[in-house]
Amino acid sequence: MAALRTLNVDLGERSYPIHIGSGLLGQADLLAPFIGGQQVMVVSNETVVPLYMERLLPGLQGFQVQQVILPDGEKYKNLEVLDQIYSALLRHRFDRTCTLLALGGGVVGDMTGFAAASYQRGVDFIQVPTTLLSQVDSSVGGKTGVNHPLGKNMIGAFHQPQVVIADTDTLDTLPDRELSAGIAEVIKYGLINDLDFFTWLEQHIDGLMARDKGLLAEAIERSCADKAAIVAADEKEAGQRALLNLGHTFGHAIETGMGYGAWLHGEAVGAGMAMAARMSHELGWLSEADCDRIDAPLVKAGLPTRPPSGMTPQQFLELMSVDKKVQGGRLRLVLLKGIGGALISGDFPAQALRSTLDAFQQ
Ligand code: NAD
Ligand code: GLY
Repeated sequence: MAALRTLNVDLGERSYPIHIGSGLLGQADLLAPFIGGQQVMVVSNETVVPLYMERLLPGLQGFQVQQVILPDGEKYKNLEVLDQIYSALLRHRFDRTCTLLALGGGVVGDMTGFAAASYQRGVDFIQVPTTLLSQVDSSVGGKTGVNHPLGKNMIGAFHQPQVVIADTDTLDTLPDRELSAGIAEVIKYGLINDLDFFTWLEQHIDGLMARDKGLLAEAIERSCADKAAIVAADEKEAGQRALLNLGHTFGHAIETGMGYGAWLHGEAVGAGMAMAARMSHELGWLSEADCDRIDAPLVKAGLPTRPPSGMTPQQFLELMSVDKKVQGGRLRLVLLKGIGGALISGDFPAQALRSTLDAFQQ
Protein backbone atom coordinates (compact mmCIF):
# COMPACT_ATOMS: atom_id res chain seq x y z
CA MET A 1 0.00 0.00 0.00
CA ALA A 2 1.28 3.49 -0.89
CA ALA A 3 2.30 5.67 2.03
CA LEU A 4 -0.34 7.81 3.68
CA ARG A 5 0.35 11.48 3.09
CA THR A 6 -1.21 13.86 5.62
CA LEU A 7 -1.37 17.64 5.48
CA ASN A 8 -3.02 20.09 7.82
CA VAL A 9 -5.20 23.09 7.04
CA ASP A 10 -4.25 25.52 9.81
CA LEU A 11 -7.33 27.44 10.85
CA GLY A 12 -7.05 27.58 14.64
CA GLU A 13 -9.87 25.63 16.25
CA ARG A 14 -11.27 24.82 12.80
CA SER A 15 -8.01 23.18 11.62
CA TYR A 16 -8.31 19.78 9.99
CA PRO A 17 -6.22 17.09 8.31
CA ILE A 18 -6.22 16.07 4.66
CA HIS A 19 -5.30 12.40 4.23
CA ILE A 20 -4.14 11.28 0.77
CA GLY A 21 -3.35 7.70 -0.19
CA SER A 22 -4.44 4.33 -1.50
CA GLY A 23 -6.96 2.10 0.33
CA LEU A 24 -8.26 4.82 2.66
CA LEU A 25 -12.00 4.33 2.06
CA GLY A 26 -13.45 2.28 4.86
CA GLN A 27 -10.64 2.98 7.35
CA ALA A 28 -12.54 3.60 10.58
CA ASP A 29 -9.54 5.12 12.33
CA LEU A 30 -9.50 7.99 9.81
CA LEU A 31 -13.22 8.69 10.18
CA ALA A 32 -14.40 7.90 13.71
CA PRO A 33 -12.33 10.53 15.57
CA PHE A 34 -14.06 13.23 13.52
CA ILE A 35 -17.64 12.14 14.13
CA GLY A 36 -19.01 13.85 17.24
CA GLY A 37 -22.43 12.19 17.60
CA GLN A 38 -24.01 8.93 16.50
CA GLN A 39 -25.90 9.94 13.35
CA VAL A 40 -24.12 10.04 9.98
CA MET A 41 -25.82 10.99 6.70
CA VAL A 42 -23.78 9.89 3.70
CA VAL A 43 -24.57 12.08 0.70
CA SER A 44 -23.53 10.76 -2.69
CA ASN A 45 -24.93 10.35 -6.18
CA GLU A 46 -26.29 7.61 -8.39
CA THR A 47 -22.92 7.10 -10.17
CA VAL A 48 -20.67 6.97 -7.12
CA VAL A 49 -22.87 4.88 -4.81
CA PRO A 50 -22.58 1.62 -6.79
CA LEU A 51 -18.82 2.15 -7.09
CA TYR A 52 -17.82 3.12 -3.57
CA MET A 53 -20.58 2.99 -0.93
CA GLU A 54 -19.79 -0.62 0.05
CA ARG A 55 -16.12 0.25 0.46
CA LEU A 56 -16.92 3.24 2.66
CA LEU A 57 -19.44 1.67 5.04
CA PRO A 58 -17.05 -0.50 7.13
CA GLY A 59 -15.41 2.76 8.22
CA LEU A 60 -18.73 3.86 9.75
CA GLN A 61 -19.52 0.71 11.74
CA GLY A 62 -21.10 1.50 15.08
CA PHE A 63 -22.74 4.71 13.83
CA GLN A 64 -26.38 5.17 12.77
CA VAL A 65 -25.86 5.62 9.04
CA GLN A 66 -28.43 6.84 6.52
CA GLN A 67 -27.90 7.70 2.86
CA VAL A 68 -29.22 10.24 0.43
CA ILE A 69 -28.49 9.60 -3.24
CA LEU A 70 -28.65 12.67 -5.47
CA PRO A 71 -29.02 12.73 -9.25
CA ASP A 72 -25.64 13.08 -10.96
CA GLY A 73 -24.62 16.28 -12.68
CA GLU A 74 -23.76 19.94 -12.42
CA LYS A 75 -27.28 20.79 -13.59
CA TYR A 76 -28.61 19.32 -10.34
CA LYS A 77 -26.39 21.52 -8.16
CA ASN A 78 -29.29 23.77 -7.21
CA LEU A 79 -31.58 24.69 -4.33
CA GLU A 80 -34.32 22.32 -5.46
CA VAL A 81 -32.11 19.23 -5.32
CA LEU A 82 -30.42 20.47 -2.14
CA ASP A 83 -33.81 20.08 -0.47
CA GLN A 84 -33.47 16.29 -0.86
CA ILE A 85 -30.66 16.42 1.72
CA TYR A 86 -32.65 18.51 4.21
CA SER A 87 -35.69 16.26 3.74
CA ALA A 88 -33.66 13.11 4.41
CA LEU A 89 -32.14 14.68 7.53
CA LEU A 90 -35.55 15.67 8.87
CA ARG A 91 -37.25 12.40 7.90
CA HIS A 92 -34.64 10.47 9.87
CA ARG A 93 -34.83 12.92 12.80
CA PHE A 94 -31.18 13.93 12.56
CA ASP A 95 -30.25 16.30 15.36
CA ARG A 96 -27.56 18.93 15.82
CA THR A 97 -24.92 16.36 16.74
CA CYS A 98 -25.15 14.67 13.35
CA THR A 99 -22.40 14.54 10.73
CA LEU A 100 -22.87 14.75 6.96
CA LEU A 101 -20.36 12.87 4.84
CA ALA A 102 -19.88 13.79 1.17
CA LEU A 103 -18.85 10.83 -0.97
CA GLY A 104 -18.29 12.02 -4.54
CA GLY A 105 -16.93 14.82 -6.69
CA GLY A 106 -17.14 18.56 -6.26
CA VAL A 107 -20.87 18.74 -6.93
CA VAL A 108 -21.71 16.35 -4.10
CA GLY A 109 -19.07 17.99 -1.86
CA ASP A 110 -20.30 21.55 -2.43
CA MET A 111 -23.95 20.58 -1.89
CA THR A 112 -23.28 18.45 1.19
CA GLY A 113 -21.13 21.17 2.68
CA PHE A 114 -23.86 23.77 2.17
CA ALA A 115 -26.49 21.46 3.65
CA ALA A 116 -24.18 21.00 6.66
CA ALA A 117 -23.60 24.75 6.93
CA SER A 118 -27.32 25.47 7.02
CA TYR A 119 -29.03 22.44 8.63
CA GLN A 120 -30.11 23.47 12.12
CA ARG A 121 -27.73 26.45 11.67
CA GLY A 122 -24.70 24.29 11.14
CA VAL A 123 -23.58 20.71 11.72
CA ASP A 124 -20.32 18.86 11.10
CA PHE A 125 -19.31 17.43 7.76
CA ILE A 126 -16.61 15.25 6.25
CA GLN A 127 -15.27 15.31 2.71
CA VAL A 128 -14.46 12.03 0.95
CA PRO A 129 -13.65 13.33 -2.55
CA THR A 130 -13.62 10.81 -5.41
CA THR A 131 -12.64 12.91 -8.44
CA LEU A 132 -9.21 14.39 -9.10
CA LEU A 133 -10.75 17.86 -9.14
CA SER A 134 -12.36 17.40 -5.75
CA GLN A 135 -9.19 15.83 -4.29
CA VAL A 136 -6.99 18.74 -5.38
CA ASP A 137 -9.40 21.59 -4.86
CA SER A 138 -13.08 21.54 -3.94
CA SER A 139 -12.88 19.33 -0.82
CA VAL A 140 -10.36 21.69 0.80
CA GLY A 141 -11.04 25.19 2.07
CA GLY A 142 -14.70 25.17 3.07
CA LYS A 143 -16.36 26.84 0.10
CA THR A 144 -19.79 25.25 -0.21
CA GLY A 145 -22.86 26.10 -2.23
CA VAL A 146 -25.11 25.68 -5.22
CA ASN A 147 -25.61 27.37 -8.59
CA HIS A 148 -28.31 29.87 -9.51
CA PRO A 149 -29.63 30.05 -13.10
CA LEU A 150 -28.09 33.54 -13.31
CA GLY A 151 -24.71 32.70 -11.82
CA LYS A 152 -22.41 29.86 -10.83
CA ASN A 153 -21.95 29.08 -7.09
CA MET A 154 -23.91 32.22 -6.19
CA ILE A 155 -25.68 30.75 -3.14
CA GLY A 156 -23.39 29.32 -0.48
CA ALA A 157 -21.44 29.56 2.74
CA PHE A 158 -17.97 29.06 4.12
CA HIS A 159 -18.06 25.90 6.23
CA GLN A 160 -14.93 23.87 6.88
CA PRO A 161 -14.99 20.07 6.98
CA GLN A 162 -13.73 18.07 9.97
CA VAL A 163 -11.41 15.98 7.81
CA VAL A 164 -10.72 15.31 4.12
CA ILE A 165 -9.97 11.75 3.02
CA ALA A 166 -8.72 11.48 -0.57
CA ASP A 167 -8.43 7.82 -1.56
CA THR A 168 -6.43 7.77 -4.78
CA ASP A 169 -7.84 4.32 -5.68
CA THR A 170 -11.13 6.02 -6.55
CA LEU A 171 -9.39 7.65 -9.50
CA ASP A 172 -9.17 4.21 -11.19
CA THR A 173 -12.79 4.49 -12.33
CA LEU A 174 -12.73 8.18 -13.24
CA PRO A 175 -13.55 8.84 -16.91
CA ASP A 176 -10.67 10.37 -18.92
CA ARG A 177 -12.56 13.61 -19.46
CA GLU A 178 -12.97 14.04 -15.69
CA LEU A 179 -9.26 13.32 -15.13
CA SER A 180 -8.43 16.13 -17.57
CA ALA A 181 -10.82 18.46 -15.75
CA GLY A 182 -8.98 17.79 -12.50
CA ILE A 183 -5.60 18.44 -14.13
CA ALA A 184 -6.81 21.95 -15.01
CA GLU A 185 -7.02 22.84 -11.31
CA VAL A 186 -3.62 21.23 -10.69
CA ILE A 187 -2.04 23.40 -13.40
CA LYS A 188 -3.75 26.38 -11.77
CA TYR A 189 -1.66 26.05 -8.60
CA GLY A 190 1.57 26.11 -10.56
CA LEU A 191 0.47 29.21 -12.42
CA ILE A 192 -0.66 31.10 -9.30
CA ASN A 193 2.47 31.05 -7.18
CA ASP A 194 4.45 27.84 -7.64
CA LEU A 195 6.80 27.93 -10.63
CA ASP A 196 8.63 24.82 -9.34
CA PHE A 197 5.38 22.89 -9.37
CA PHE A 198 4.53 24.17 -12.86
CA THR A 199 7.93 23.01 -14.11
CA TRP A 200 7.36 19.62 -12.44
CA LEU A 201 3.99 19.42 -14.19
CA GLU A 202 5.55 20.17 -17.57
CA GLN A 203 7.87 17.23 -16.99
CA HIS A 204 5.22 14.84 -15.70
CA ILE A 205 2.03 15.72 -17.54
CA ASP A 206 2.20 12.60 -19.72
CA GLY A 207 2.65 10.36 -16.66
CA LEU A 208 -0.24 12.06 -14.90
CA MET A 209 -2.48 11.55 -17.92
CA ALA A 210 -1.37 7.89 -17.97
CA ARG A 211 -2.64 7.75 -14.35
CA ASP A 212 0.70 6.97 -12.71
CA LYS A 213 -0.42 6.53 -9.09
CA GLY A 214 2.74 7.97 -7.52
CA LEU A 215 2.64 11.05 -9.72
CA LEU A 216 -1.07 11.57 -9.05
CA ALA A 217 -0.53 11.34 -5.28
CA GLU A 218 2.34 13.82 -5.55
CA ALA A 219 0.21 16.22 -7.61
CA ILE A 220 -2.66 15.97 -5.12
CA GLU A 221 -0.36 16.59 -2.16
CA ARG A 222 1.37 19.58 -3.74
CA SER A 223 -1.95 21.07 -4.88
CA CYS A 224 -3.51 20.65 -1.44
CA ALA A 225 -0.42 22.12 0.23
CA ASP A 226 -0.60 25.19 -2.01
CA LYS A 227 -4.32 25.57 -1.42
CA ALA A 228 -4.07 24.98 2.35
CA ALA A 229 -1.45 27.74 2.66
CA ILE A 230 -3.68 30.27 0.87
CA VAL A 231 -6.81 29.24 2.80
CA ALA A 232 -4.95 29.42 6.12
CA ALA A 233 -3.88 32.98 5.30
CA ASP A 234 -7.27 34.17 4.01
CA GLU A 235 -10.10 31.80 4.86
CA LYS A 236 -13.00 34.01 3.74
CA GLU A 237 -11.42 35.57 0.68
CA ALA A 238 -10.76 39.03 1.96
CA GLY A 239 -7.73 39.15 -0.33
CA GLN A 240 -5.30 36.59 -1.65
CA ARG A 241 -7.71 33.62 -1.67
CA ALA A 242 -9.23 35.17 -4.80
CA LEU A 243 -6.03 34.05 -6.57
CA LEU A 244 -7.49 30.53 -6.46
CA ASN A 245 -10.00 31.85 -8.98
CA LEU A 246 -7.44 32.12 -11.77
CA GLY A 247 -9.34 31.34 -14.98
CA HIS A 248 -12.63 31.13 -13.10
CA THR A 249 -14.22 34.43 -14.10
CA PHE A 250 -13.94 33.46 -17.76
CA GLY A 251 -14.68 29.83 -16.83
CA HIS A 252 -17.81 30.50 -14.82
CA ALA A 253 -19.12 32.62 -17.71
CA ILE A 254 -18.60 29.62 -20.00
CA GLU A 255 -20.35 27.24 -17.59
CA THR A 256 -23.33 29.54 -17.12
CA GLY A 257 -23.47 30.63 -20.75
CA MET A 258 -23.32 27.11 -22.17
CA GLY A 259 -25.75 25.68 -19.57
CA TYR A 260 -24.47 23.89 -16.47
CA GLY A 261 -22.80 20.61 -17.36
CA ALA A 262 -22.22 21.26 -21.07
CA TRP A 263 -18.59 22.14 -20.35
CA LEU A 264 -17.07 20.53 -17.27
CA HIS A 265 -15.91 22.97 -14.61
CA GLY A 266 -12.26 21.98 -15.19
CA GLU A 267 -12.61 22.39 -18.96
CA ALA A 268 -14.04 25.87 -18.50
CA VAL A 269 -11.21 26.72 -16.08
CA GLY A 270 -8.65 25.39 -18.58
CA ALA A 271 -9.95 27.70 -21.32
CA GLY A 272 -10.34 30.47 -18.73
CA MET A 273 -6.69 30.25 -17.69
CA ALA A 274 -5.57 30.41 -21.33
CA MET A 275 -7.79 33.49 -21.74
CA ALA A 276 -6.43 35.12 -18.56
CA ALA A 277 -2.92 34.46 -19.88
CA ARG A 278 -3.68 36.10 -23.23
CA MET A 279 -5.20 39.11 -21.49
CA SER A 280 -2.10 39.38 -19.29
CA HIS A 281 -0.08 39.38 -22.52
CA GLU A 282 -2.35 42.08 -23.96
CA LEU A 283 -1.48 44.19 -20.88
CA GLY A 284 2.23 43.58 -21.42
CA TRP A 285 2.55 41.48 -18.25
CA LEU A 286 3.22 38.07 -19.79
CA SER A 287 5.34 37.12 -22.78
CA GLU A 288 4.00 35.35 -25.85
CA ALA A 289 6.41 32.50 -25.00
CA ASP A 290 4.85 32.14 -21.54
CA CYS A 291 1.35 32.08 -23.08
CA ASP A 292 2.48 29.20 -25.28
CA ARG A 293 4.15 27.54 -22.29
CA ILE A 294 0.85 27.70 -20.40
CA ASP A 295 -1.14 26.31 -23.33
CA ALA A 296 1.19 23.31 -23.73
CA PRO A 297 0.25 21.24 -20.64
CA LEU A 298 -3.40 22.22 -21.08
CA VAL A 299 -3.33 20.80 -24.60
CA LYS A 300 -1.47 17.67 -23.43
CA ALA A 301 -4.17 17.19 -20.82
CA GLY A 302 -6.82 17.35 -23.54
CA LEU A 303 -8.21 20.63 -22.24
CA PRO A 304 -9.59 23.48 -24.33
CA THR A 305 -7.46 26.63 -24.63
CA ARG A 306 -10.18 28.64 -26.35
CA PRO A 307 -13.74 29.53 -25.36
CA PRO A 308 -16.68 27.79 -27.05
CA SER A 309 -17.16 29.16 -30.56
CA GLY A 310 -20.82 29.94 -29.88
CA MET A 311 -20.16 32.50 -27.14
CA THR A 312 -19.84 36.16 -28.10
CA PRO A 313 -17.68 38.80 -26.35
CA GLN A 314 -20.89 40.58 -25.32
CA GLN A 315 -22.19 37.42 -23.67
CA PHE A 316 -18.90 37.08 -21.78
CA LEU A 317 -19.03 40.67 -20.59
CA GLU A 318 -22.60 40.29 -19.32
CA LEU A 319 -21.95 37.00 -17.53
CA MET A 320 -18.64 38.19 -16.08
CA SER A 321 -20.35 41.25 -14.60
CA VAL A 322 -22.06 39.06 -11.94
CA ASP A 323 -18.77 37.51 -10.80
CA LYS A 324 -18.23 37.39 -7.03
CA LYS A 325 -15.04 39.43 -7.40
CA VAL A 326 -16.96 42.42 -8.76
CA GLN A 327 -16.68 45.29 -6.25
CA GLY A 328 -18.62 48.52 -6.60
CA GLY A 329 -19.49 47.56 -10.17
CA ARG A 330 -15.83 47.08 -11.08
CA LEU A 331 -14.75 43.73 -12.45
CA ARG A 332 -11.56 42.35 -10.92
CA LEU A 333 -9.66 39.55 -12.61
CA VAL A 334 -6.89 37.19 -11.63
CA LEU A 335 -4.10 37.87 -14.12
CA LEU A 336 -0.48 36.86 -14.45
CA LYS A 337 2.75 38.81 -14.21
CA GLY A 338 4.80 35.82 -15.25
CA ILE A 339 4.16 32.14 -14.53
CA GLY A 340 3.78 31.78 -10.76
CA GLY A 341 3.04 35.50 -10.44
CA ALA A 342 -0.76 35.72 -10.22
CA LEU A 343 -2.34 38.93 -8.98
CA ILE A 344 -5.86 40.28 -8.53
CA SER A 345 -6.45 43.42 -10.53
CA GLY A 346 -9.31 45.71 -11.39
CA ASP A 347 -6.84 48.19 -12.73
CA PHE A 348 -6.89 47.48 -16.44
CA PRO A 349 -8.40 49.32 -19.39
CA ALA A 350 -11.79 47.86 -20.35
CA GLN A 351 -10.45 47.75 -23.90
CA ALA A 352 -7.87 45.11 -22.91
CA LEU A 353 -10.60 42.70 -21.92
CA ARG A 354 -12.67 43.52 -24.97
CA SER A 355 -9.79 42.99 -27.39
CA THR A 356 -8.84 39.71 -25.67
CA LEU A 357 -12.40 38.45 -26.10
CA ASP A 358 -12.49 39.72 -29.70
CA ALA A 359 -9.21 37.97 -30.50
CA PHE A 360 -10.62 34.63 -29.31
CA GLN A 361 -13.64 35.11 -31.58
CA GLN A 362 -11.50 35.19 -34.72
P1 NAD B 1 -18.58 16.20 -10.36
O1 NAD B 1 -18.81 16.24 -8.92
O2 NAD B 1 -19.73 16.48 -11.26
O3 NAD B 1 -17.95 14.79 -10.73
C1 NAD B 1 -17.66 14.51 -12.08
C2 NAD B 1 -18.31 13.22 -12.56
O4 NAD B 1 -17.56 12.11 -12.07
C3 NAD B 1 -19.72 13.00 -12.06
O5 NAD B 1 -20.47 12.38 -13.07
C4 NAD B 1 -19.53 12.05 -10.88
O6 NAD B 1 -20.67 11.30 -10.58
C5 NAD B 1 -18.43 11.20 -11.40
N1 NAD B 1 -17.58 10.54 -10.42
C6 NAD B 1 -17.20 10.99 -9.21
N2 NAD B 1 -16.29 10.19 -8.68
C7 NAD B 1 -16.10 9.18 -9.56
C8 NAD B 1 -15.26 8.06 -9.58
N3 NAD B 1 -14.37 7.83 -8.62
N4 NAD B 1 -15.33 7.22 -10.64
C9 NAD B 1 -16.18 7.49 -11.66
N5 NAD B 1 -16.98 8.55 -11.71
C10 NAD B 1 -16.92 9.41 -10.66
O7 NAD B 1 -17.43 17.23 -10.80
P2 NAD B 1 -16.05 17.64 -10.13
O8 NAD B 1 -15.17 17.98 -11.27
O9 NAD B 1 -15.59 16.68 -9.13
O10 NAD B 1 -16.43 18.97 -9.36
C11 NAD B 1 -16.89 20.11 -10.04
C12 NAD B 1 -17.68 20.96 -9.08
O11 NAD B 1 -16.82 21.39 -8.03
C13 NAD B 1 -18.25 22.21 -9.71
O12 NAD B 1 -19.57 22.38 -9.30
C14 NAD B 1 -17.38 23.32 -9.16
O13 NAD B 1 -18.06 24.53 -9.07
C15 NAD B 1 -17.03 22.78 -7.81
N6 NAD B 1 -15.80 23.32 -7.25
C16 NAD B 1 -15.83 23.76 -5.98
C17 NAD B 1 -14.69 24.25 -5.38
C18 NAD B 1 -14.70 24.66 -3.96
O14 NAD B 1 -13.72 25.23 -3.47
N7 NAD B 1 -15.75 24.36 -3.22
C19 NAD B 1 -13.48 24.28 -6.10
C20 NAD B 1 -13.47 23.81 -7.41
C21 NAD B 1 -14.64 23.33 -7.98
N1 GLY C 1 -11.71 27.14 -5.66
C1 GLY C 1 -11.54 28.45 -5.14
C2 GLY C 1 -11.44 28.51 -3.66
O1 GLY C 1 -11.51 27.53 -2.98
O2 GLY C 1 -11.26 29.57 -3.13
